[in-house]
Amino acid sequence: MAGLTHSAFRQICFGFGGVGLLSTEMLSAKRLPSENPRLSPYLIRTVSEKPLSYQLLISTAGEMAPAIDVLHELKADAIDLNMGCPAPAVGKMGAGFRLMEQPDDVRRIVAEARKRTPLPLSAKIRLGAELDERKLKDFCTLLEDEGIDMLSVHARLKKESFARRPRWECIAGIKDRIKIPVIVNGGIFSVQDAEQCLRTSRADGLMLGRGAVIKPWLFAEIARDLYGCNIAEPAVSLQTVYGNFIDLLNELFRPEHRLGRLKEFTRYFAQNYKFGHLLASRIQSSNSMDEAGERAALFFENGT
Ligand SMILES: Cc1cc2nc3c(=O)[nH]c(=O)nc-3n(C[C@H](O)[C@H](O)[C@H](O)COP(=O)(O)O)c2cc1C
Repeated sequence: MAGLTHSAFRQICFGFGGVGLLSTEMLSAKRLPSENPRLSPYLIRTVSEKPLSYQLLISTAGEMAPAIDVLHELKADAIDLNMGCPAPAVGKMGAGFRLMEQPDDVRRIVAEARKRTPLPLSAKIRLGAELDERKLKDFCTLLEDEGIDMLSVHARLKKESFARRPRWECIAGIKDRIKIPVIVNGGIFSVQDAEQCLRTSRADGLMLGRGAVIKPWLFAEIARDLYGCNIAEPAVSLQTVYGNFIDLLNELFRPEHRLGRLKEFTRYFAQNYKFGHLLASRIQSSNSMDEAGERAALFFENGT
């Protein structure tokens, strides 16, 4: 998730356990070869973050080879192709969701990726611009035929807001059509959501988005309660999680890359508090990491 699933956040989630596969945020395939992996906040990672899938935002097959060369150098464990992002700026580049409307381009892009890497290759899609089961299933079959190993589906249509109930039931139709594992995404904020989502969708796995930013221990809870993994009940101190996150931002990123990421994370994490909007707005208006840290400490002290 852009601005959110960087190394600091991934380490926090991984620390609680229960994560099967981590992911980067979307990375422009075109820009990837010119990024410095030791300084770029998109590429910085630690050895503990494993397995890590790198998500590419790509619009033409020609961009694939140089991007994959970089991902091999970075020791990626898997590569994901973004075909779900509905942002107009991304669409204008011919990337993200736009690809779902250009199956011939997708065929070329996936075939090129398959030719260039032995790594597991996945794609992330949405349900479509409107409900059209046949079109959706044909698209999923195309991906499978061209060599995609795993498919994740954000169970909403292109224009549907995050507030809308996700259409988990639509995933079951995809499951009936293709053989590769299908991962369901959208609207999972609790173990109960995860249980209902798995039952309704018959998916092979879950991908957590905002729910993991609010509760980075949600993977651990789901792994323990639904998958029977031997993981201790997460002992969660919100203040400690937040403090660890700030420490990691300071440790990993250059000064100019820290505060924006803290603000982004706080928008979601603050939802754990009844009066979290106060924390979120005070961090939002902070001008430095020090100021944000002081304001957060005051909030935690007083609970408001
Ligand atoms: C701030 C933000 C950034 C996102 N960035 C990405 C991204 O880089 N790549 C991607 O595939 N999806 C991205 N998404 C979509 C999420 O991965 C996910 O599909 C969506 O939030 C629905 O899942 P959720 O209800 O669990 O959050 C983003 C969502 C949000 C809110």
